[in-house]
Amino acid sequence: MSRHVVRPFEEADLSAAAGLLAQRHQAHRKRHPLLPADYEDERLALVEVTAAWETEGASGAVMVEGGEVTGYLLAAPKPSPVWGPNVWVEAAGHAVREPEHIRDLYGAAAERWVDDGRIAHYVLVPDDAELIDAWFRLAFGSQHAHAVRPVPDAPLPAPPELAVRRATRADIPVLAELDLVLPRHQGLSPVFSSGELPTLEEAVADWEESIDDQDFVTFVASYNGDVIGSSVGCSLDKSSAHNGLAKPDNAGFLGFAAVLPPARGLGAGRVLGEAVLQWSAETGYTSVVTDWRVTNLLSSRAWPRLGFRQTFHRLHRLIGH
Ligand SMILES: CC(C)(COP(=O)(O)OP(=O)(O)OC[C@H]1O[C@@H](n2cnc3c(N)ncnc32)[C@H](O)[C@@H]1OP(=O)(O)O)[C@@H](O)C(=O)NCCC(=O)NCCS
Repeated sequence: MSRHVVRPFEEADLSAAAGLLAQRHQAHRKRHPLLPADYEDERLALVEVTAAWETEGASGAVMVEGGEVTGYLLAAPKPSPVWGPNVWVEAAGHAVREPEHIRDLYGAAAERWVDDGRIAHYVLVPDDAELIDAWFRLAFGSQHAHAVRPVPDAPLPAPPELAVRRATRADIPVLAELDLVLPRHQGLSPVFSSGELPTLEEAVADWEESIDDQDFVTFVASYNGDVIGSSVGCSLDKSSAHNGLAKPDNAGFLGFAAVLPPARGLGAGRVLGEAVLQWSAETGYTSVVTDWRVTNLLSSRAWPRLGFRQTFHRLHRLIGH
């Protein structure tokens, strides 16, 4: 007879789940002290697990060993069509004492998701090698990286041929052009993930309206006098992609950067990223967060070189073949 029982998640499991989540987060913060300390406390972890449980359409499973809950998994659909017929396991949606047991929990919970036609599965996993390996052996693969680094102590010197400054209204035509660079690049192999591609006119109109928005800072880089790239920084509070346990306190956000294709590899991406790091330090943030598609060969190499360390992996599985 098996020592483990896997059964559907119930409301009465919330507090045991919060205990497991707090323990997972304590271990995660040993590697990444910039992640928020609050959720090491079971009571605050409970707020996050409860939110995952109360999300519309949520369902999941728990593992019970000798009367004790030793693992749980919770997922819910996201309404946005960009994710397909999906379920998402958010950062607070899983914790297990034994990494291998996530496979039993998924085995039990995923049946209902797939029966409901939800075949695109997403999960945010801490950078714990054993846990990631267990998810990989459920046919998940790496899609997206969440990363953080401390703000720099002192301004970083830029090469003389590259100048960085705050963008002005006169830069709108090139800023609009650079806005199209990222979705165009993400539409190419091996990312294959373009999203909506605005027209140049729409991008210009957007900049005309937003260039003076004090909540965002925009930098442009020029190479021998010509603007070749831009970056945008803001508070991490402005990003909907970083929440709860995956949202460092008091953090700035490197939200956008693009360099025109012929000017890549000259160091402009570095100085544009560093401008946002420096602005974050001057604004009083403690750390800076960014994220990238791991299949984006450019950003996935540039941002780690700027000192960003991956905290969470978003894994993805598409069922059917
Ligand atoms: C990502 C992007 C902004 C980087 O700009 P860039 O000007 O090409 O980058 P840089 O020349 O400054 O290089 C940045 C760092 O990445 C490193 N790097 C670049 N290509 C690399 C490669 N193939 N292998 C290893 N490292 C590489 C560089 O060596 C550099 O590190 P270093 O300064 O320590 O040497 C730019 O490539 C781009 O616009 N990409 C398309 C849009 C995009 O992906 N935007 C980011 C969205 S998250």
